[in-house]
Amino acid sequence: MLNRGTKLKAWHGQKKYPVVVPVMFVVSVSVALVFLFHRNDEKQIQAYGLPPERKWNRFESLVQFNPKREFRNGTDLIWQIPDSPKAVLFLAHGCSGRAVNFWDKSPKCPECVGLPEERLLVLHALARKFAVLTISSAGRCWAFGEERLIVEDIITWWVKRHKLGKLPLVALGASSGGYFVSAIANDLKFSSITLMIAEGLFDHMDIREDYPPTLFVHMPKDLRRQQKITEFIEVLRNKGVDVAEIECMELPLSPTFLSDRIPSLDQTISATLFNLFREKGFVDENGYMKRDGRATRWKDALQDSKPNLLEKDLVHPIEEELNLAFAYHEMTSLQSEEIFKWFESHMA
Ligand SMILES: *[C@@H]1O[C@H](CO)[C@@H](O)[C@H](O)[C@H]1NC(C)=O
Repeated sequence: MLNRGTKLKAWHGQKKYPVVVPVMFVVSVSVALVFLFHRNDEKQIQAYGLPPERKWNRFESLVQFNPKREFRNGTDLIWQIPDSPKAVLFLAHGCSGRAVNFWDKSPKCPECVGLPEERLLVLHALARKFAVLTISSAGRCWAFGEERLIVEDIITWWVKRHKLGKLPLVALGASSGGYFVSAIANDLKFSSITLMIAEGLFDHMDIREDYPPTLFVHMPKDLRRQQKITEFIEVLRNKGVDVAEIECMELPLSPTFLSDRIPSLDQTISATLFNLFREKGFVDENGYMKRDGRATRWKDALQDSKPNLLEKDLVHPIEEELNLAFAYHEMTSLQSEEIFKWFESHMA
């Protein structure tokens, strides 16, 4: 549980978190293999990629996507309600995001995209019995005038229509969605919120007395934002609001990093891309991205050397994962355990 003022070094939650068990699993498997092949090669360990609890299919036996979709007030709503839901989660995407990014493509939602981090957040939520509501912003990013009222109206109406009004309502917004959630939390009654890679609009509002407990999940490499967050944590705390933060650190790529995180990307392509990134100097000798995925000309490099390697709809997921690895500004599901613990510990 995160108490007020807890500062968690997230990524990989280092030591303290339930990562320990899978890590021990990976370590013991690796040790076993080292003995097996009499090879004391650290690279061998890396080849096993992410521990199972971070893989794209970790929820396969627990929950399935089965969303419903509706258009209302000129926008797109996609949601799923598990059996016996215990809470309602509103998810707000960032700029250029859409509700379809949170859900895997299926006969029920042929337009759905299922971006790797978004889909895992939803699966985490459903596995923990949160009903999940996603809404698309009208424009590229969220707006704070009329759109705020429209979305508040939609959330209220939707909760009522599905008879979920007695359940705690929580929200998570990333980037533009984080600003948006910080604003609507001043109007609607949330039991707690998570602002991801966003400092919120706290210098633009009169924060109400009972503003909900607020968790900042951010990437401190984005120094300016980190400074703002530090400032706003003080502001909220002085108002008596429960606040915590999770810092998300960069992580190294490995040959299976992309195939571990992206459903339709196989290990061969993943390893080929990793080698290409090394050849081109996009990653350093330890596998860390040298620049943000958006600023890395990996698509051009791919076009030059292996033009037919990649299907078009893998470009966006790969870019997202490269951004995540660089840890400057991206949606992340890697801290889901801590995020949902935050929600769950503020539901009384
Ligand atoms: C949204 O649509 C509903 C149904 O069409 C309508 O009653 C409601 O007033 C609309 N809300 C806003 C804020 O425009």
